[in-house]
This record gives sequence, C-alpha cells and structure tokens, in this order.
Amino acid sequence: MSTALSVEHLGVVYDHFYALKDISVSIESGESFGLVGESGSGKSTLLRAIAGLAPVSEGTVRVHGEAVKGSKRSRSFYRSVQMVFQDPYGSLHPRQTVDRLLLEPLAIHGIGDAEKRIARALDEVGLGNGFRFRYPHQLSGGQRQRVAIARALIVEPSILLLDEPTSALDASVQAEVLNLLEQIRRDRKLTFVMVSHDLGVVTHMCGRLAVMRGGAVVERLTSAELAGGSVREEYTRNLMIASKGFVKA
Ligand SMILES: Nc1ncnc2c1ncn2[C@@H]1O[C@H](COP(=O)(O)OP(=O)(O)OP(=O)(O)O)[C@@H](O)[C@H]1O
Ligand SMILES: [Mg+2]
Repeated sequence: MSTALSVEHLGVVYDHFYALKDISVSIESGESFGLVGESGSGKSTLLRAIAGLAPVSEGTVRVHGEAVKGSKRSRSFYRSVQMVFQDPYGSLHPRQTVDRLLLEPLAIHGIGDAEKRIARALDEVGLGNGFRFRYPHQLSGGQRQRVAIARALIVEPSILLLDEPTSALDASVQAEVLNLLEQIRRDRKLTFVMVSHDLGVVTHMCGRLAVMRGGAVVERLTSAELAGGSVREEYTRNLMIASKGFVKA
C-alpha cells in the first residue's frame, strides 16, 4: 500500500484564531477515510487546507509522497485532487448548462475528446445524455450532486475530498448518491476523504476515521470500533448519542 495523501503538523490560522492545530493524518491509496466532529471543529477547514482554499500557517501536505509547495495549488494538483461540496447549488454556476459545466475542467486541463468524456461522465453518475443541456435549476438536488460528482471525476483524479456530499439530500436520495460514490471508488480505485456529521454514513462508507474537536484530532478509530462502541473519548461517545439513530436508545 502506498500513501495517497498525508498532512503533517498542519496548522491554519484565521486572524490569530487557530482553526487547525498540529493535524497529522496519513491516508492510503484506495482508502476511504472519514472526518467527524462537532460543528466548528475544523472538518471543512482541513479539506479546504488540503485543497489550497484555507490559509495554511504550518505543516506540509503531501500527495502521493510529494510535498505540495506554497498555498497556491498547481494545475497538476487539481488533476489528482478534486473536491465535492455539500451544496452543489453553490458550486455549480447557475447560468451554465451541464454540458458547459463539464466542458470547463476539460478545457482548463487541456484534455481532448470532450464529447466522449462528457457522455461517459454523465453515464457514470447515472444521468443520461438528456441532461446535457439542462441548467442546474432544472435538476433535482440529487441530480445536481451527481453533476458535481461528474465534474470532479471528469479530469480523472485519484483523490476526492468530500465535504458532507449528501447531507443536503433526502434520506433515500442520500443512500443512492452514497452507493454511487462507493461504486465509483471501487471501480476507479479512488481515495476518499469524507466529512460527515452522520456517523452511520461514516461507518458505512469509511474504513478509518479521525474525530476532531477544536481544530485538533482527539481520537482515531476504525469504523468497526466506532460501530461497536469501543471509543476512548467521552466526546466521541457524545457524538454517537447526538448522531440520530446511531446509538439505540
Ligand atoms: N474564512 C474563515 N474566517 C475565519 N474563521 C473561519 C473561516 N472559516 C472557518 N472559520 C472558523 O474555523 C472553525 C472551523 O470551521 P469549519 O468550517 O472547518 O468547521 P466544521 O467542522 O466544518 O463545522 P460544520 O460541521 O458546521 O461544517 C470555526 O470556528 C469557524 O468559525
Ligand atoms: Mg463543515
């Protein structure tokens, strides 16, 4: 196994406020790694720091062993690492058709064969060619998130950063999109880092996870340990109680 992504002693400071403190995590190729923790604990900040969207003050991010230099991310970084956000309405330009939305990353990375790639990307996320000329507002929430996933996948990254990718969706649609993500991960041998406040989702999707609090990792667990309740921290136990349906009353 090789390491796909690692962060070493990562710190993020916003105006004297430490949003992340000394975070170290190492994620193997093909692994699905979960991040959980209360609101404001720094989960999104960690994904954003990896993606070059948060001000890193200390530490190193490595992709496939290679240190990422500076705060700006290169084009080649974004060919390896793509991010999917919670709210596809915010991440998909409202005045661009699905076709345009999928064409843009291909153009940025100078990837040819657009026709074929767009058709294949839509097919892979379970949307037919009929969706190609629709605008985001002409799609359901689940369909929009499928477009956001297709857009991330079209440049063939090896790592996906997923920030609550299904928490804006209804339960049944959420399950469909999670199953789709899991199938794509297996087929493409992708590495996932997934944030979710739903511990059931994390145990279903991830093998290992880190529990965050106040910008730090307080506990590392396997999903089996979490599901079996063998956690060390009181804080983690409280998260389990707060996560609806996770602990049987
Ligand atoms: N751009 C910013 N400027 C200043 N502070 C910020 C900024 N972004 C995040 N923070 C702060 O950093 C901390 C961590 O925020 P973050 O969004 O990472 O939390 P989270 O764990 O993702 O929470 P949630 O579960 O609510 O999404 C919070 O205290 C937040 O207010
Ligand atoms: Mg967040």
